Amino acid sequence: MKRTQHCNELRPADAGKPVTLAGWVHSRRDLGGVLFIDLRDREGRTQTVFDPADLPAEVFEAATRLHAESVIQVSGVVRARPAGTDNSKIATGQVEVLVKELAVLNHAEVLPFPVDDPEVAAKVNEELRLQYRYLDLRRPEMTRNLRLRSKVATATRVFMEEQGFLEVETPTLFKSTPEGAREFLVPNRREPGAFYALPQSPQQFKQILMCAGIERYFQLARCYRDEDLRADRQPEFTQVDIEMSFIDREDLYALIEGLLRRVWKRALGVDITLPFRRITFEEALNRYGIDKPDTRLGMELVDFTEEFKASTFKVFSGAVAAGGVVKAINAKGMAGATQGQIETMTAHAKSLGAKGLAFIKVEQGEWKSPIVKFFGESEKASLTQKLAIEEGDLILFAADQWLNACEILGKIRLYCADVLKAQGRLVVPADRFDFLWVVDFPLLSFDKEMDRWYSSHHPFTAPVAEDIALLKADPKKVRGQHYDIVVNGVELGGGSIRIHQPDVQKTIFEEILAISPEETKLRFGYMLEAFKYGAPPHGGIALGFDRLIAILCGTSSIRDVIAFPKTAKGVCLMTDSPAPVSARQLRDLHIEVKAAKKE
Ligand code: AMO
Ligand code: AMP
Repeated sequence: MKRTQHCNELRPADAGKPVTLAGWVHSRRDLGGVLFIDLRDREGRTQTVFDPADLPAEVFEAATRLHAESVIQVSGVVRARPAGTDNSKIATGQVEVLVKELAVLNHAEVLPFPVDDPEVAAKVNEELRLQYRYLDLRRPEMTRNLRLRSKVATATRVFMEEQGFLEVETPTLFKSTPEGAREFLVPNRREPGAFYALPQSPQQFKQILMCAGIERYFQLARCYRDEDLRADRQPEFTQVDIEMSFIDREDLYALIEGLLRRVWKRALGVDITLPFRRITFEEALNRYGIDKPDTRLGMELVDFTEEFKASTFKVFSGAVAAGGVVKAINAKGMAGATQGQIETMTAHAKSLGAKGLAFIKVEQGEWKSPIVKFFGESEKASLTQKLAIEEGDLILFAADQWLNACEILGKIRLYCADVLKAQGRLVVPADRFDFLWVVDFPLLSFDKEMDRWYSSHHPFTAPVAEDIALLKADPKKVRGQHYDIVVNGVELGGGSIRIHQPDVQKTIFEEILAISPEETKLRFGYMLEAFKYGAPPHGGIALGFDRLIAILCGTSSIRDVIAFPKTAKGVCLMTDSPAPVSARQLRDLHIEVKAAKKE
């Protein structure tokens, strides 16, 4: 017996055909002595019928002993299902296979959780799903995600190849460089105290490939970052990593728009509209309070600095006097917010350094708020007009330095959107994709604690040409040639035009980022040297591949689109890694573990 068909293939026209199917026992029903087994393989399901009248007793007997998820192979004859017993939910729902022979390929024990019912499975604790990932991945929803991932990887490779790109693999045993995130280190047996580091991205290698004259490089690259994990971050993840020579930002935008159009078409059959909107970093902060705005949610931030600069409400006028701004949002229909919700929002504001969160509830024709007594008629009129205030609205204010005020309301805006979505009052269609290029980021940001500048993107990003003169005089005004691609509020990717002149790169390292010349030489010497022997102008981008697939699959967690992801604590529950190693291994690696792990 060899498999002749997969479980999603048979149709009424196949009636009478002898077939052999193999797969897993998805479900079993016993109807008046006749046994129905839904057989499942990767492609789908087919109903098989074990009729004791038609089968040797021991075969029927064996079938009755099968647990869910046992692996079997059956041979039999296809027949149309009797009228009224069709199952319109599955593609093979009009037929069944009357079994003549059964081979039990492997018995399954009772499962830790059921995999046959999507609703039950969706409620299974994620840790259990991760521990038994091979069972979890049998669920059609999960298989669908992996299938889509594979399809998009192929579409990406085909598209990039068509565009003249070479896929080049770069090392994953690299060295430690301060690129941003904390790194995973790999100890080295040959030289005590010398470590490899796993790459945070192939950034430096891809730039060197440009120096090598490759001109157009891409890679589905595995990257490693030891950072705090969330639903959209894993310690190892995949990038569609791209670098090109002799280009400007426009070339790059056009390439990525073309790639995403191809991907959306292949994956979802959807034609996305090009070109994507562009928004500056400043406008994104001003209007949405975040550099990766979800423009589908409305509720834009409105500025009231002018209106409140002379207000008798000192929280507002004081903030303006200190060089700050006053901003507000209208959370439409949220006047009924509970005390708990207001407290959560206030906690958000406080976590960003505000002393509180002023608000107005518009209920029964009245503005209910302890601060309204400070407002004059013209201030009220201006609020009503600019925020389109109506009965049932909740107005929330932030008075602070510009960036802070924006970020506070940005966070609160997203919180309100979640509340409104949960109440069904904000409906975002699942098939709406708002793509956005965010551009003109500041090249540098200031770290108050460390009292120094750091690169907003990474230290290889080129300044906007006309801002180079400001580098030393007024670093915060320098814009970077950095761009992010955002979809529905998710940062899908980011990149930049790079510095390719060794002197500019050296100035950035040593004079702006205050990396010592010795450190610069140690970490980046080879790169600065490569730039001396004919480095073409170049630039690139990396798209988060896991995030891309998650968006296409409509899930908010990249764990759902990675075959074997890690938990928020960085643990693989299936293999139980990371794990201790033997004393001998440690000795070979010249490593001594000081403190034993606390249980
Ligand atoms: P960046 O650090 O912005 O740029 O990363 C690019 C994209 O990678 C994805 N990403 C992640 N996905 C899952 N888990 C993570 N921990 C994680 N970290 C990042 C995001 C992000 O937008 N070398 C530069 C690119 C360049 O300049 O060309 C880089 O890595 O979607
Ligand atoms: P206070 O006068 O400090 O009691 O604050 C009056 C109101 O303003 C309270 O509702 C505070 O939550 C709110 N508030 C305080 N600081 C800010 C701020 N920076 N932005 C917005 N509201 C604030």
